[in-house]
Amino acid sequence: MVCRSPVMMNDAEIEAAKEHFGKVLREQLERVERMKASPGWIDHSKLDRLIIGVVGGDGIGPYICRHAEGVLRELLKEEIAAGKVEVRTIDGLTIENRARQLKAIPDEVLAELRKCHVILKGPTTTPKKGDGWPNIESANVAMRRELDLFANVRPVRIPEQGIDWTFFRENTEGAYVLGSRGVDVNEDIAIDFTVATTQGCERIIRLAFEHARRTGVNRVTVVTKANVIKRTDGKFLSVAERIAKEYPEVKWDDWFIDIMTAKLLDPYRRAEFKVMVLPNLYGDIITDEAAQIQGGVGTAGSANIGARYAMFEAIHGSAPRMVDEGRAQYADPSSIIKAAAMLLNHVGFVEKARRLEMALDICTQFERRVRVTGRADGATGEEFGRYVLETVARKDLEDAWRKGLSA
Ligand code: IPM
Ligand code: MG
Repeated sequence: MVCRSPVMMNDAEIEAAKEHFGKVLREQLERVERMKASPGWIDHSKLDRLIIGVVGGDGIGPYICRHAEGVLRELLKEEIAAGKVEVRTIDGLTIENRARQLKAIPDEVLAELRKCHVILKGPTTTPKKGDGWPNIESANVAMRRELDLFANVRPVRIPEQGIDWTFFRENTEGAYVLGSRGVDVNEDIAIDFTVATTQGCERIIRLAFEHARRTGVNRVTVVTKANVIKRTDGKFLSVAERIAKEYPEVKWDDWFIDIMTAKLLDPYRRAEFKVMVLPNLYGDIITDEAAQIQGGVGTAGSANIGARYAMFEAIHGSAPRMVDEGRAQYADPSSIIKAAAMLLNHVGFVEKARRLEMALDICTQFERRVRVTGRADGATGEEFGRYVLETVARKDLEDAWRKGLSA
């Protein structure tokens, strides 16, 4: 029997971890090279034939996605009939299929997604250790990475409180990019990695400043924890300082994530914030908080934007419990319909998007004639979908919306 000393064992474990680190570093360096060589933006509003992929996901995903797809098909029916737009349903992004293939996104699904220009995506179940599914990577994280959807744009509006926030969450780096690639060095030590690249920080921060300039908001808040996480958050902040110089008309400030999280709850301060740009994990957390302030995570939509593709989704999860309890038909589709409005806006149907947004405000905040509660005491998603469609078609939509605003 070979008796190894604890120190020798440590050496072997350290070598294995170093080897793994070398491998992920090489991959990240390759990613940087791809970012440097990126061919630039595709303008989705200028395509002769736009392909919109609809991928239902799992849990309540297919239930709510169906209604958002119905709204899209209705609003785009002329363009679809004229062959200018195609709405394509893509199956197979279910947890069952992903678990069977042990893939975050099965190859054939990814190949179909790549044939589309923009995607409407239902929530997908993200496995975690011990929940009965193989602990595979999140389909969201994989899709954001594979399609290089670097900007997660999440608006939150509460008109009567003057709140109009747009969060620019970095979507392809930070704690997420290697979230499934950490190492259990031995029984006692687990290490994860957080990544920030100059190119990755630049592109999200620039997009936030461009947005602030274009909308005339001229205010950007950069959120990090650079006082503690000195390398990666430090880079994010120093890149922001540099980019900000290119936008002299945009007033900017920097906050730490902990106090920022508190300030969103401060009724005297919070309406001052407008555009916020932040690394991946902080963006994940604070946008759930912001959506809750707006009325719940079920009310917020999310755009995942890249230079070539864009994907739109609800910000909440797949609520498997609702399916298990037989309540999936009562799931609230308003967040994914909001995502559909963001999609329309992104691909250049600005007026249709505006009408849909107004209809959603009326249906979820002002009039609320059809209420979804998630249970049998409320309306079904289908009834709500019909309510939204009737509202979009109203002749007095704009007036009804203005009246709701001033009520
Ligand atoms: C979100 C979700 C995802 C995330 C999960 C499902 C992986 O919470 O879109 O905010 O953490 O990004
Ligand atoms: Mg989240």
